[in-house]
Amino acid sequence: MADGRTPGFATRAVHAGQEPDPETGAVVPPIHLATTFRQDAVGETRGYEYSRTDNPTRRRLEACLASLEGAQHCVAFASGLAATTTLLLLLEPGDHVVFTDDVYGGTFRLFDAVLRRFSLTFTAVDATDTGAVDAACTDRTRLVWLESPTNPLLRVVDIGAVAERAHERGATVCVDSTFASPVLQRPLELGADVVLHSTTKYLGGHSDVVGGAVLTSDDGIAERLRFHQNAVGAVPSPFDCWLLLRGLRTLELRVRRQCDSASTIARWLREHPRVQRVHYPGLDDHPGHTLAARQMHGAYGGVVSFEVESGDLARNVLRRLRIFALAESLGAVESLAESPAMMTHASVPEEQRRKVGVGDGLIRLSIGVEDVDDLIGDLDQALDA
Ligand SMILES: Cc1ncc(COP(=O)(O)O)c(C=O)c1O
Repeated sequence: MADGRTPGFATRAVHAGQEPDPETGAVVPPIHLATTFRQDAVGETRGYEYSRTDNPTRRRLEACLASLEGAQHCVAFASGLAATTTLLLLLEPGDHVVFTDDVYGGTFRLFDAVLRRFSLTFTAVDATDTGAVDAACTDRTRLVWLESPTNPLLRVVDIGAVAERAHERGATVCVDSTFASPVLQRPLELGADVVLHSTTKYLGGHSDVVGGAVLTSDDGIAERLRFHQNAVGAVPSPFDCWLLLRGLRTLELRVRRQCDSASTIARWLREHPRVQRVHYPGLDDHPGHTLAARQMHGAYGGVVSFEVESGDLARNVLRRLRIFALAESLGAVESLAESPAMMTHASVPEEQRRKVGVGDGLIRLSIGVEDVDDLIGDLDQALDA
């Protein structure tokens, strides 16, 4: 900026990596769909050779995401799970991973049903207990995998404290920060080494693009990730990168609105006679509230989970919702509702689900940007089922 000040978050969301097209002045940079780039002579490129390796639209996206997360490097992928897979491919057979026990179901399935076959070992722990993470680390532990807030119970992990212990044990710490987005939480500032996003969620924000990203300020990790991004090839299309850039421009506005509405809805649900329990870190009786207030930037996210008496009642409520769409995913402009036990977390074995508290009566809401009174009215009529 002219006065030397670093531009604020919302300014960077609109401008970082998105400078007007130098050739035409177009304020929306073009999408570069080309798969290959002409070389001036053998080995003499203008910065690009082949779009799996690098692409101008993808580079713009990576620059914007890195700026928002406060990272030196961003590597973009075709989905959140493609990002997770490629990151885990940096490990060696026999390496051990400690992970938080209510991770996203697809992450659990990747660890348990795929990567175990390649001789990686995994231990699930309640990462809200820093001592439990420490106790689970062995001399083969290379990675500690956290989510915060967790999915679907919105538990809050002390990222700084876990990172300190993990580093003493020689492990790298990765935080899947999808639920918070960089508007609310920046794990690298808290001591984590790597941040992962399913950009399908808040970053895209419109339920029209699947993507993922890994961010770090560690040059060594970034270099190996870039090699694997190209070698493994799970890259996003230029059009998907462009859609993500379009979504990022309004990220801050959307997330602030979603947080305000989520907080209002959580308080309303807490008073409803058919609701047994509400999980939302913004509620002052939530066990992670104080930590979230310290670790997150002034708001607590757009996801609220609540429990009703039984799976049958949850099914009925979900069937009756009219504005909330019964659908997986979260973080977009439209409000969504789902049953973690029967939908997003069905791939987690029932015993493990019960152990962490994901019962059949649990409903997860992703709050969109609609009028909050309409959303409350919808929940009210559905809970009357
Ligand atoms: C917290 C979290 N991490 C990762 C993923 C996986 O991302 P994707 O669906 O983009 O592969 C999801 C998807 O729901 C998620 O909720």
